[in-house]
Amino acid sequence: MLLSFLSLGSLVLQVAGITTDPTFSQLQDQAFVAGNWGLTQPGTTGVSAMQLAVVSESTVIILDKTENNPLKLVDGRAAWVSELDLNTNQVCALNAKTNTFCATGSFLGNGTFVSSGGTVNANDPTDGAGFQAIRLFTPCTDGTCDIVEDPTQLHLTSNRWYPSSVRLDDGSVMIYEGIGPFHNGIGINNPTYEFFPPKNINGFNGVKIPNQFLVDALNATHFPIMVLLPSGNIFIAANQQAMLFNWRNDAEVGQRLPGIPNGIRVTSPFSAGAVLLPLTPENNYTPEVMICGGSNVSDAIDPLQLNILSNTCVCSSMPQPRVMPELILLPDGRILIVNGAQTGVAGFGDVGDKIGQSNADHPALTPVIYDPSAAFGCRFSSEGMPASNIPRMYHSTSSLTPNGSVLLAGSNPNGGVSTEKYPSEYSLLLPDLNYLYSPPYMFQPRPTYTGLPATIDYNSQFKLSVDLPFNLLDIPSDCSFATHGVHMDQRYLKLKSILSLDRRTLTVTGPPSATHYPPGPAYLYVVTNAGSELWP
Ligand SMILES: *[C@@H]1O[C@H](CO)[C@@H](O)[C@H](O)[C@H]1NC(C)=O
Ligand SMILES: *[C@@H]1O[C@H](CO)[C@@H](O)[C@H](O)[C@H]1NC(C)=O
Ligand SMILES: *[C@@H]1O[C@H](CO)[C@@H](O)[C@H](O)[C@H]1NC(C)=O
Ligand SMILES: *[C@@H]1O[C@H](CO)[C@@H](O)[C@H](O)[C@H]1NC(C)=O
Repeated sequence: MLLSFLSLGSLVLQVAGITTDPTFSQLQDQAFVAGNWGLTQPGTTGVSAMQLAVVSESTVIILDKTENNPLKLVDGRAAWVSELDLNTNQVCALNAKTNTFCATGSFLGNGTFVSSGGTVNANDPTDGAGFQAIRLFTPCTDGTCDIVEDPTQLHLTSNRWYPSSVRLDDGSVMIYEGIGPFHNGIGINNPTYEFFPPKNINGFNGVKIPNQFLVDALNATHFPIMVLLPSGNIFIAANQQAMLFNWRNDAEVGQRLPGIPNGIRVTSPFSAGAVLLPLTPENNYTPEVMICGGSNVSDAIDPLQLNILSNTCVCSSMPQPRVMPELILLPDGRILIVNGAQTGVAGFGDVGDKIGQSNADHPALTPVIYDPSAAFGCRFSSEGMPASNIPRMYHSTSSLTPNGSVLLAGSNPNGGVSTEKYPSEYSLLLPDLNYLYSPPYMFQPRPTYTGLPATIDYNSQFKLSVDLPFNLLDIPSDCSFATHGVHMDQRYLKLKSILSLDRRTLTVTGPPSATHYPPGPAYLYVVTNAGSELWP
């Protein structure tokens, strides 16, 4: 089988580049540009941004639940999926057939984005049940692409509401967990997984496969944290448990991993954020998963007894507690932590102490930067970061954009369009405003490059013609989908490279293997170091 690393032409940044700190090479722990962060408000999302994925160099797909969004379909119904053009900040409605409420999403190796699972809105007779939905979206550049859905022919084999998915090294997607509102429990649970396209694993041919971990980890197992590791195993965390899983033979690897310490729960509605820290040749591609935030609230008590005074946890030295944080890998290898609340839990409905329909409160408005290359104890900082004045509570999201800025969108901790204290950020009365955080590197001279091949093979070399304002630092790649603080498939892989003596040609080696970076789309960034002399 040909394992080709496919970076679709349309998804690749031809003239990208990021410039970071003056002093990186000299001083590891003051590694990055210290300047101020820019904050702009370029537009609206049309539908509330519960789920979001950058699908091309200039477009973002945004998925919500069916509700009375301001953006309308041609037949006059309210849209629940939109496509945002980053160049014009215009949104257009996409035509899903089923309700994408708490669905998941991942890219296939051939570049098609797969949205799966969801639910039904019983109050809306035109709403198609999304429990078993498979929705395909193949990005295009002529503005004609739309969601492809054929619920009778193409669907999951069991109901999945709040599932996660993970992009695999064979170019398929594994879809895991689901069902139950708020959280699962004995009897309200789908402790199974399946693949798209379907496959035959351990005698389960194209059907759901039982998974004991999801029974053991009850109750709060929604949107499990899943990371494909360079070993080919998947790191999975749900509620207070964690394991390594081998999908090829349907087996948990070794002993169950130690649980999450300090009584903390990490998956919805006690949502923490998680990220695979950068895989680099320097760290020998050794994976390290960081999980931040979450809650120590019990998952066994009646949700009506939950009150907003329940503390969320403080992740080692994270400056403040956060539930529902988003952890974004920046091209400079740092992690931006945004969105979320300082008290309460995710979800809405049958909970105590409600503001509107949810009980999360005290929005975490100031972003935090985590720098994995800094000394322990000095890794978190909010220095120079402007606070947002829009709370991004339940059903908000965030993503890196191809040019290195960070988009924040959504927030809708209610069942429908609402003007409560934490309103639907998409309503006609209060239009949703995307925030784009611009890290200081956005204001530096940028490296440019040409000659990126449409596809890159594993372990093979390709040449870029480069124009570098400063010394070369890094060549990471990334492409992901985000919802509920879970950034499916978010990944930072530093590629090996050699710069020619005249500094005009960069010879880059593709990822070591498909488990280091699964086949499919990627963004390639050329990162330079602002401080070093160009001609030493
Ligand atoms: C980066 O992209 C965002 C979104 O497309 C845009 O608003 C911003 O102007 C861009 N900035 C630069 C420096 O290209
Ligand atoms: C990718 O594969 C899926 C599943 O086989 C298929 O439905 C889709 O059309 C393919 N996309 C492209 C761009 O070929
Ligand atoms: C959660 O943690 C807080 C702060 O450490 C503590 O006061 C509280 O008792 C804990 N709650 C539970 C249910 O363990
Ligand atoms: C799940 O929650 C129920 C109450 O809804 C509780 O009785 C049960 O003990 C919980 N299960 C676990 C494993 O904590």
